Amino acid sequence: MSNHSNAEVSIIIPTYNESENIKGILHLINEHLPKNTIVEAIVVDDNSPDGTGKIAEDYFNSLKEKTKYTINVINRKTRESLSSAILNGIQQAKGKIVVVMDSDFSHPPQLIPKLVEALKQSKTDIVVASRYLNGGSIHGWSIKRKIISKIATIIAKKGLGIKQSDPMSGFFAFKKEIIRGINFDAIGYKILLEMIVKIKDISIKEIPYTFADRENGKSKLGTKIIFGYIQAIGKLYRYGKKEQQKETRSSVKFLSKAARFFSVGACGLGVNYLASMWFTSSLNMWYLHATILGILFSITSNFFLNKYWTFEDPDFNAKKTIIQFGKFAGFSSIGALVQLGMVYYFVDELSISYPISLVLAVTTSAFSNFILNKKWTFKEKVWS
Ligand code: GDD
Ligand code: MN
Repeated sequence: MSNHSNAEVSIIIPTYNESENIKGILHLINEHLPKNTIVEAIVVDDNSPDGTGKIAEDYFNSLKEKTKYTINVINRKTRESLSSAILNGIQQAKGKIVVVMDSDFSHPPQLIPKLVEALKQSKTDIVVASRYLNGGSIHGWSIKRKIISKIATIIAKKGLGIKQSDPMSGFFAFKKEIIRGINFDAIGYKILLEMIVKIKDISIKEIPYTFADRENGKSKLGTKIIFGYIQAIGKLYRYGKKEQQKETRSSVKFLSKAARFFSVGACGLGVNYLASMWFTSSLNMWYLHATILGILFSITSNFFLNKYWTFEDPDFNAKKTIIQFGKFAGFSSIGALVQLGMVYYFVDELSISYPISLVLAVTTSAFSNFILNKKWTFKEKVWS
């Protein structure tokens, strides 16, 4: 493979079984290169059984004009993770600017010049193409996939204190120098998230775009990746803890616990939904039974997450834990009833619209639940 040592921009394209997409995407990138810029595409292929790597090499050899655009293929022996493939590409990148994108047309190459421009002009260190910024959107995803993505995003934002709208984006660009000295865990899909958490004092810009689901081939994001995600969040969370010196301000501690409590709540909605769906579809359960079981499941998982993570209570003595669980489940049920009553009162007596009533009721009951559990279940001072 020809190795241009003078590339200014390196575009990392991880692939696994993308034989139907790789040629087309490499071609489309070539048609939308940033002006007057020498670009290298780096395809990082994990020994795809369908011959993706070879197709990319052949395509490059067939190109006539190879001065402004070269393609290097890294053929890795084994499949590790998407993040590790991307890191491998970054290590080989010659450009000062690195772009990371998928090979399945979900990420429009038309945006690449804009990403590069943003890095060239300002002090910006990372530019993220965002689906969740105003003007961005997602085409072709099922409701289920949308919900999972939204929940994963909320968890990252609340749990890790991230301000960007789309920290799970797989489409972003950055100045290579910023990752010097950073140790990556490279679990699963979330390399950008790891960069945002671990690199200090950087400025991040976001640009909206429309993500389009792939037309050819299959997504590789499965249950294993979702569990890997939870593991990755845990690791990053502990990393953040070690970094910051012990926080002593009550206001910060209170707000951070509240944020954790609400993310657990959001996560519980997901558990509830997925468990109920699973009981009806896989176990053919009657839908009302499935719903009740789903609720029990999410109360239980919420309890343990709040005990261990939100309120940092490591004591799992059986008797104590059961009593705490009883209180927690009790408050949850009372909360649900209060919420129902409030919605009824707002809509029927005060004639407030249903969506607003619902938001008011959910917020109030979530907040009072937080206070009640903080004080009575986990025996903490309220303001701490
Ligand atoms: N080398 C390598 N090894 N490439 C991989 C692997 C792997 O183990 N797994 C996936 N890829 C490649 C795919 O071939 C594709 O080019 C790209 O990584 C994205 O994989 P998809 O399987 O298409 O992911 P997705 O579309 O479900 O997820 C996308 O959206 C997520 C946001 O919700 C990706 O952009 C993710 O990075 C992103 O987080
Ligand atoms: Mn995809």
